[in-house]
Amino acid sequence: MEDRCDLLVIGSGAAGLSLALKMADHCKVIVLSKSDLNEGSTRYAQGGIAAVFDDSDSIEAHVNDTLTAGAGLCDPDVAKYTASMAKTSMQWLIGEGVPFDQEQDAQGNHRFHLTREGGHSHRRILHAADATGQAVQDTLADSVRHHPNILLFERYNAIDLIRSKSNPKHLLGAYVWNRKRECVEIIRSKFVALATGGASKVYQYTSNPDVASGDGIAMAWRAGCRVANMEFNQFHPTCLFHPDAGNFLISEALRGEGAFLCHADGTKFMHRFDERGDLAPRDIVARAIDFEMKRLGADCMYLDISHKPSDFILKHFPNIYRRCRSLGIDITQQAIPVVPAAHYTCGGVMTDLDARTDLDNLYAIGETAYTGLHGANRMASNSLLECIVFAHAAANHITQQLHRPLTNEAIPAWDESRVTDSDEEVIIQHNWHELRLFMWDYVGIVRTDKRLQRAQRRIQLLEQEIHDYYSNFRVSNNLLELRNLLCVAKLIVACAMQRKESRGLHYNLDYPNQLNEPTPTIVVRQST
Ligand code: FAD
Ligand code: SIN
Repeated sequence: MEDRCDLLVIGSGAAGLSLALKMADHCKVIVLSKSDLNEGSTRYAQGGIAAVFDDSDSIEAHVNDTLTAGAGLCDPDVAKYTASMAKTSMQWLIGEGVPFDQEQDAQGNHRFHLTREGGHSHRRILHAADATGQAVQDTLADSVRHHPNILLFERYNAIDLIRSKSNPKHLLGAYVWNRKRECVEIIRSKFVALATGGASKVYQYTSNPDVASGDGIAMAWRAGCRVANMEFNQFHPTCLFHPDAGNFLISEALRGEGAFLCHADGTKFMHRFDERGDLAPRDIVARAIDFEMKRLGADCMYLDISHKPSDFILKHFPNIYRRCRSLGIDITQQAIPVVPAAHYTCGGVMTDLDARTDLDNLYAIGETAYTGLHGANRMASNSLLECIVFAHAAANHITQQLHRPLTNEAIPAWDESRVTDSDEEVIIQHNWHELRLFMWDYVGIVRTDKRLQRAQRRIQLLEQEIHDYYSNFRVSNNLLELRNLLCVAKLIVACAMQRKESRGLHYNLDYPNQLNEPTPTIVVRQST
């Protein structure tokens, strides 16, 4: 079966849906979603979106804060571009109907309430209470569902991009797995955009939903695109520590509004690690928590906001209050047990200011992309911003190319003649757990060369096993994700081994210092 469209958007989070909506008045768009339309990191975002709305703030300050958090590795032109497009992008979201919180000023005028997070020198975070992502996702999803030019394919996994035989830099479309009908189909498209989110599920403990298995990064890599800075996986300092919590985040906005980190007995510790204390950038806070947990042999640290008035806490953090309360933790009365967890993939598929990749009709946007904005550490609330800004940039560029014809080159049908149904699902499950555990233990917050080498050897073994498995058995969601996670793990380790220094989120005990010349780690596939 073959479908055709002008633009195939793989992924239905903030990035994918924004691009689809921007393009749908001009052409026919198909949006793929691996799970239900709304399942992705966007939906779980809490804190908000950074943009300069306050008169005392400035684009220069937003840029400088971004560059400081990025530890010398951000691309200053990209930071300037993003910060200067932020207000227009937020006005577009507001126009779409996203209900950001407002407040009244002294003269009784309504204005947006701006909160603060680590690394930001000003209040500049637009938010919808502590469930900003849900507000963004619901609003965009509603518009997408009602647009006559957008076809939504939910529960479809993109498996691989299809390159033209006559021009390997050109894509014909993608092979996709229809999970409901359990068959592989072809979508032929003039343009393809990867918006598949990040890869934090490669780690045992993560704040991310299950779909975050780095599929877009792995697909682009297999198709011959360059990938960069994969060693910089961000660990969020404060995820809820509770056996029944799942992957629940405790937003940095709590610290922005006065919460502090402490030991079980209430002793504060962040001032010992950084003069910015609890509002230091995330890499520093996550390492400090990790250090204190190891030093004291503790299972977790604590985050305390109970000194604030209860009505303030309930107004600003209703979602976090409810979730903690359901687990027997009253955040208005007691400190919250927290641990760091893998949160954000700063690296990804290399793109330019138009979101173009190395292939002539492939774009990458959102967490899948490496634009150069985040450098060695992403500043809080710059990610949703990057999703919207670069979705718009991609839309502008694609619109100018729409006159190009759809290529009619024959696409080989998916070959299932040599595969059978797997009777060994347990192998996939086992390899999944093994991979995520050793990535956590050996390629986590603190690394050494020896640990990286161990991880590399294990990845090589698993790769062989999964290659055999993939060649012999019918695809399944678990198998496809495992194949992609292994690819991403390999890229993370390769990048981490190349970096002979500690910078931002990459901390290697064998190279504790920073080199004088910061350079991104760019990896290129040998045979494409
Ligand atoms: P996602 O929203 O993750 O969407 C990915 C989409 O791709 C999904 O629809 C998925 O189904 C689809 N997909 C994946 N693989 C395939 C495939 N093979 N085939 C088809 N579809 C596929 N950032 C901020 O700026 N501010 C915040 O306050 C904030 N809070 C956060 C809180 C949490 C708990 C988390 C996890 C992240 C937070 N972030 C925040 C980060 C931010 O939410 C994400 O970086 C951002 O939402 C990513 O958006 P995206 O569109 O790139 O991907
Ligand atoms: C948070 O609310 O702490 C998450 C913000 C982000 O990841 O940008």
